[in-house]
Amino acid sequence: MNPLRHVAIIMDGNGRWGLKYKKSRKAGHKAGLKTVEKIIKESLKNKIKYLTLYAFSTENWKRPKNEVNYLFDLLENFLRNRIEDLNKQKIKLKIIGIKSFSKKLNNLLNYSEKKTSKNSTLQINLALNYGSKKELINAFKSITKARVSVNEKNFTNYLQTKNIPDPDILIRTGNTRRLSNFLLWQLAYSEIFFEKKLWPAFNEKDYNKIIKKFKKIKRNFGNI
Ligand code: IPE
Ligand code: IPE
Ligand code: MG
Repeated sequence: MNPLRHVAIIMDGNGRWGLKYKKSRKAGHKAGLKTVEKIIKESLKNKIKYLTLYAFSTENWKRPKNEVNYLFDLLENFLRNRIEDLNKQKIKLKIIGIKSFSKKLNNLLNYSEKKTSKNSTLQINLALNYGSKKELINAFKSITKARVSVNEKNFTNYLQTKNIPDPDILIRTGNTRRLSNFLLWQLAYSEIFFEKKLWPAFNEKDYNKIIKKFKKIKRNFGNI
């Protein structure tokens, strides 16, 4: 049975779900947040150490301003309402991506990270304004500037996922099979599960089914 330490998720399909069932993309994002709660709970139950959630990509700025604003309002409310409880459950929150939001949101993100930094049940890496290509370019720049020899081991220390093991599993919901600029380096050997369901419809049972399947896969890492 494969050990499972790290699950990464591309939470896709909120907009389509919202349009289909509530005639609004925003309602889909709101419903998607409920799935986030379910998956956090289930990750704790499964004793998973790292959960990386793709919440906003560097490309998502192309969306209409009012959808973008709505997403960040949702995030802000979520953190204000839930950070105490997450902290009580000994969950650690880390942001990956570039924190270049409003001063208010940047402060809230920093506060939430700092408050939970000593926790060690589950680490949630929230990918916000995250793009893998930008992350890689920045890593190359920093390692070169530091005059550190460029090898795989050293290089990973310049990524935003420094000290985090690579994902064992990548899940993408929403019936779409692409990586959309997510963790291109870190996913080199992850087991990938493309899920037809839209993110708001994804549930604990679907999640556990994937985990069960993963545990039985023969992972070769190039060996036989
Ligand atoms: C993913 O859902 C959430 C974010 C990108 C913030 P989408 O909003 O991409 O939903 P679809 O793909 O349009 O249905
Ligand atoms: C990927 O979903 C980003 C997030 C889930 C945050 P998108 O819906 O933005 O991806 P594309 O644009 O369809 O590739
Ligand atoms: Mg999408």
